[in-house]
Amino acid sequence: MAQRVRGVIAPGRGEPVRIETVVVPDPGPGEAVVRVQACGVCHTDLHYREGGITDEFPFLLGHEAAGVVESVGEGVTDVAPGDFVILNWRAVCGQCRACRRGRPWYCFNTHNARQKMTLEDGTELSAALGIGAFADKTLVAAGQCTKVDPAASPAAAGLLGCGVMAGLGAAVNTGGVTRGDSVAVIGCGGVGNAAVMGARLAGAAKVIAVDIDDTKLAAARRLGATHTVNSRQQDPVEAIRELTDGNGADVVIEAVGRPETYQQAFYARDLAGTVVLVGVPTPEMKLELPLLDVFGRGGALKSSWYGDCLPSRDFPMLIDLYLQGRLDLDAFVSETIALDGVEAAFDKMAKGEVLRSVVLL
Ligand code: APR
Ligand code: ZN
Ligand code: ZN
Repeated sequence: MAQRVRGVIAPGRGEPVRIETVVVPDPGPGEAVVRVQACGVCHTDLHYREGGITDEFPFLLGHEAAGVVESVGEGVTDVAPGDFVILNWRAVCGQCRACRRGRPWYCFNTHNARQKMTLEDGTELSAALGIGAFADKTLVAAGQCTKVDPAASPAAAGLLGCGVMAGLGAAVNTGGVTRGDSVAVIGCGGVGNAAVMGARLAGAAKVIAVDIDDTKLAAARRLGATHTVNSRQQDPVEAIRELTDGNGADVVIEAVGRPETYQQAFYARDLAGTVVLVGVPTPEMKLELPLLDVFGRGGALKSSWYGDCLPSRDFPMLIDLYLQGRLDLDAFVSETIALDGVEAAFDKMAKGEVLRSVVLL
């Protein structure tokens, strides 16, 4: 029997969100219905609301979530009712070349639930990133659910579903930060600060946090930054060089998404160092670099897609580290809110007042 639940809907381009009744069908083959417990508010939800991602309004927003599997459809064996799970954006096929080579985020055959959730009048909803978790319950592909230790707080666990995984994975998976490295992180919002935490987890000797906002830098200190640079007061490239005996950092992570910070990241790394690009630029942005610098500095320029994570490998492991007190996911939860607080949370996010607002259900 289809169920009726509350959900946060983006009705049309730029219009404020509103809470509406969402009809969630029973799970079909390969699908699961999840009772959502927590869902973080991420920039991508705001981009959906503004029509910056696709035009397929109305959207059911929310995609950084954890909850309990309520029911599963035919053929589902990896998760069962009662499992505590973190949701990921897309189920991967496990068969294609990208999957076989351990890069499932480039999978050619990703999928979400085949059925659609709807409004009461039957209007089909597009689920943000194939999830739609600002709702009491949501329908996903079973492969979007990763079972983790239920002792974790849902608010903390959900964050691994998007922003924190993106930043942490940029350091640990994409950047390959290793014991003794010097690491610089440019931009210390939720994503950059997760990279700071990841760099410390991976054993970096120096973690240099760069931002234009001192409160973000204070958070970075708490999460393991050894040095902080306010780039309104100091040239960040010079500061990073000075802090690394004139060399530059082994790994520089860019978590802003602007040409000037891409450029800073490029020049702040040591010769043969690695630059990891996590900040998402807009289509108009361009970066001009002297080819001789590109050629002469060696090393690698990498972009990091969802932290290059393997949910089935990374989510349970990171939750275990969290439960052991080695990963402070709670530090990212600036506030917990109800479903009707999403619009206000967008404002706080745009003003940079929070690392994460998390909806509890
Ligand atoms: N130099 C350094 N830091 C800057 C600069 C700058 N020129 N401009 C902005 N910042 C800082 C902001 O002060 C803020 O702390 O960058 C941070 C961006 O953080 P958030 O807005 O909270 O964004 P976040 O969720 O962390 O995402 C960062 O990663 O995944 C992508 O789409 C995401 O592009 C976005 C980026
Ligand atoms: Zn997100
Ligand atoms: Zn695949």
